Amino acid sequence: MGNYLEVAVEAAKLGGDVLKQYYQQNKCIEHKGEIDIVTNADKRSEKLIVELLSARFPRHSILAEEGTDMAQPSEFKWVIDPLDGTTNFAHDYPFFCVSVALEKNGEVVVGVVYHPILEELFVAEKHGGAYLNGRRIGVSKVDRLRNALLSTGFPYDVLVDPEDALQHFESFIHTAQAVRRDGSAALDLCYLAMGRFDGFWELRLKPWDTAAGILMVTEAGGQVTDFGSETYSIYQDQTLASNGLIHDQMREVIDRSTKTSSSV
Ligand code: IPD
Ligand code: CA
Ligand code: CA
Repeated sequence: MGNYLEVAVEAAKLGGDVLKQYYQQNKCIEHKGEIDIVTNADKRSEKLIVELLSARFPRHSILAEEGTDMAQPSEFKWVIDPLDGTTNFAHDYPFFCVSVALEKNGEVVVGVVYHPILEELFVAEKHGGAYLNGRRIGVSKVDRLRNALLSTGFPYDVLVDPEDALQHFESFIHTAQAVRRDGSAALDLCYLAMGRFDGFWELRLKPWDTAAGILMVTEAGGQVTDFGSETYSIYQDQTLASNGLIHDQMREVIDRSTKTSSSV
């Protein structure tokens, strides 16, 4: 996978340089929905990344958040979030990143997440481990939910469909040590992979939010599933990720709070 990983890193850094250039400058902000925004930096980052990948791998498919959907009859597909954490970025809150992943036959085999302000580069390869700036990372050893620092986020349709998201949030506030909501799912998953967080859950994430991050978690020794089974796909609605030790405890909380909200 060597060459693919190298190019993924090059692409993430290229996007990261764009974000650095536009950070704390006047940005052009458009609304995709009432609270869902896109900036000129998201678009520029995506354009440069897509140009790079399609020049290097002209036969590969590419899917990226801001409109790129180049489907080709290839076993390889790049899945890209050119700026994860756009709301943070628009407010000059320095918690955002570029996420670049490569799928082979539907399985994520390379993941790169780059935080350009802190210059933290997370990379993972299937069966090759996960690394932060060249150093191997691993998940935490916290085994009681009560001692766990969790993170989550809310989908942009939370205003119209708040129910489960808020129920789960309330339940974890009562059962974990603390919960953070930092605004970049890709970075949340990397922070879990390196032990800063112990668990993460979120509803209705998109493939570009999770593709690189979930590989980081599994290669760091953690577990990623949907809420109800042992399986996971970046194309479905539920993400439950943890250090593995608190996974069942998190699942029980979600289960209980989902039942409570549907019985009200
Ligand atoms: C968002 C972030 C956020 C998550 C949202 C995502 P964007 O991505 O990952 O943490 O809660 O669901 O849509 O829009 O900043 O790329
Ligand atoms: Ca995103
Ligand atoms: Ca984005």
